[in-house]
Amino acid sequence: MTRRMMEVKVDHRRLEILSDRHKFIILVAGRRWGKTWLSLTWLLSGNITANQNRFFVAPTYRQGKMVAWSVLKQMLEHTHCKFNETELRVDLPNNSVIRIVGADRADSLRGVGLKRVVLDEFAFMKPDVWQNVILPMLSSTNGRALFSGTPSGYNHFHKLFIRATDEDDWSCYEYKTIDGGNVPQDEIDRARREMDQRTFSQEFCATFESYEGKLYYNFDPTKVVKKSLKWIKGSELWMTCDFNKSPMVWLVCQRMPDGNLQVIEELVIRYNAKTQNLIREFCKRYEHIQNKLIYLTGDASNKYESHRDFSSDYQIIMGILRENKWHVVNRVPKKNPNINNRVNVMCSLIHHNRIKITDQAHMLINDLQSNESDGRGAKDKKDPMQTHASDAIDYLSWMLYANDFYSTTTTKHQFMGG
Ligand SMILES: Nc1ncnc2c1ncn2[C@@H]1O[C@H](COP(=O)(O)OP(=O)(O)OP(=O)(O)O)[C@@H](O)[C@H]1O
Ligand SMILES: [Mg+2]
Repeated sequence: MTRRMMEVKVDHRRLEILSDRHKFIILVAGRRWGKTWLSLTWLLSGNITANQNRFFVAPTYRQGKMVAWSVLKQMLEHTHCKFNETELRVDLPNNSVIRIVGADRADSLRGVGLKRVVLDEFAFMKPDVWQNVILPMLSSTNGRALFSGTPSGYNHFHKLFIRATDEDDWSCYEYKTIDGGNVPQDEIDRARREMDQRTFSQEFCATFESYEGKLYYNFDPTKVVKKSLKWIKGSELWMTCDFNKSPMVWLVCQRMPDGNLQVIEELVIRYNAKTQNLIREFCKRYEHIQNKLIYLTGDASNKYESHRDFSSDYQIIMGILRENKWHVVNRVPKKNPNINNRVNVMCSLIHHNRIKITDQAHMLINDLQSNESDGRGAKDKKDPMQTHASDAIDYLSWMLYANDFYSTTTTKHQFMGG
């Protein structure tokens, strides 16, 4: 049986970008527009003379492997290239090299001269990777760069985009998802219904949205907060944890049979919290439950991805839960999702009236009412009591609902930026 060759469409929009001779090109486009495919096509185009290096940079090595490596291999099928699976590296017969690399390991790339580089999902890379690592790699080769991505608030991608509009060496393109021809109109209409307005505009219309002012901009306590919600038999029990010590805030939640979320309790120790004390408190309060099954999530455990390693805290929690006859399902992620993305999922839950919060959850309600952005892509932490409860709910809502709001029929989206 012969396998069908990969078919890469090149319409007039794509052709314009592929034949653009500027040194630096920015492509801002909505989700599933075809950014990654076009970026790879651009990376392979032009004359690849001997001994060139061309890199496709993804926010992380893992994402590069997931979203770009198999596409690149298919694009180079039936050629005389050699593929190195562990290095995500393609060697051409003329000694040129094409590689997929992660911006999370960018320091290890220094010293290589690049003829072309793609920075895919640039909004989700550390801002200094371009200036400090990649740009110097283009200087000796007179190399060129293509930045592609969907916006993520007014961050470094927006800054670069604004600056580029005034510079001779740069050219910019902006497209909505619909312009890419990969997602049909009814699918986009469905996303419009499912997402809150800010998220839809950002993801599908590729607009730079402001996260200034209230982060959970559509939170209305009269609709979301309910008097003394209680544990209900037969619904999945979840606990989501933030490990700040003063305060430490965990939320006890239930996923109801209709799939909606209820926050039934906020467990708090305000000062110098110890993980063992808070989990013992939980065990005492929920001792009466007969079917002791709990799903555990929260702040990522992986010390390489977050600034602290919480794996020992989770070990303590699981140990004490098991001593108290609980069956624990560990759903702690290795990596925290990007803040804008997880705030967006919460806003979409609120938009659809799919979350209820007990009026006892004072810190969470306060956070949802007042949390703001710090203007640099994080939550404003001026008040040390704030943002811990909202972080905890973000982690859980991301875990349970990201794919409800961020999937298209084309494919489930793997969100960038962690
Ligand atoms: N030029 C093209 N020709 C044919 N099919 C394409 C082309 N570009 C994209 N596609 C189809 O659309 C899908 C999405 O493309 P791609 O992954 O490049 O989009 P993206 O904008 O990078 O998406 P995301 O926002 O998820 O990163 C591909 O898996 C492929 O099926
Ligand atoms: Mg992509």
